[in-house]
Amino acid sequence: MNHPKEFAEGLSIGIIMDGNGRWAKQRGLPRTAGHKKGAAVFQDIANYCEELGVSSVTFYAFSTENWKRPLEEVSAIMKLFGEYLLKGFNYKDRNIRIKFLGDRAALDAKLQKLMNELEEDSAAKTGMTLNIAVNYGGRDEIVHAVNELIAEGKTQITEDDITSHLYTKASPSPDLIVRTGAEMRLSNFLLWESAYSELYFTDVLWPDFDERQVDLCVKEFASRKRRFGGV
Ligand code: IPE
Ligand code: IPE
Ligand code: MG
Repeated sequence: MNHPKEFAEGLSIGIIMDGNGRWAKQRGLPRTAGHKKGAAVFQDIANYCEELGVSSVTFYAFSTENWKRPLEEVSAIMKLFGEYLLKGFNYKDRNIRIKFLGDRAALDAKLQKLMNELEEDSAAKTGMTLNIAVNYGGRDEIVHAVNELIAEGKTQITEDDITSHLYTKASPSPDLIVRTGAEMRLSNFLLWESAYSELYFTDVLWPDFDERQVDLCVKEFASRKRRFGGV
């Protein structure tokens, strides 16, 4: 069998990490326990993507709609986010570029500071780009891009204008989008960028996702025929 690296090298991948709450419920645990396990899995999978030579991976961590959840759950997610950023990535010694996608103005000031530092400190790295989408919505991203263009005085715009003003402007559009947790929808993830992405849905809940599952995704991707509208 081919090594998964052969399939994964150079790919741009988006991952919708869904199913934390159901995973916890199945075990009689609070939803926050699912988020905790999910945060650990996020790190493992990010590391594995780097190992496979993935060029860019985007994790959907918190959507613009996720504020609708109970305050307690939102606070727990934000706390985990801070902890994993602080301790999790030993980024100074690593060759990964970290970018945050989304409207960070709504986040805690300390968290914003940390996010800015991580981005600045890793900006010159040459390895995998790790995008983390927090308070991210695909529609919000497009509106934000258009508002920037208006502020620049544009009255006519092109597709390239929008693409170059998205939060994802530094990354290629995803070749493959993976969603765990059995739902088959994008839930406002990378709406513009996903125009020609291959979609992969799995019933596996995010806290159960592992390296073997990544291997299955990239292998399936390699068997798809991409036509981009051609023949
Ligand atoms: C994904 O898991 C994590 C976030 C959206 C923050 P969920 O919390 O949506 O888990 P389910 O879908 O309720 O199982
Ligand atoms: C999508 O999951 C958002 C993230 C994974 C961050 P949701 O659980 O919020 O999506 P819906 O509500 O089932 O569409
Ligand atoms: Mg969900």
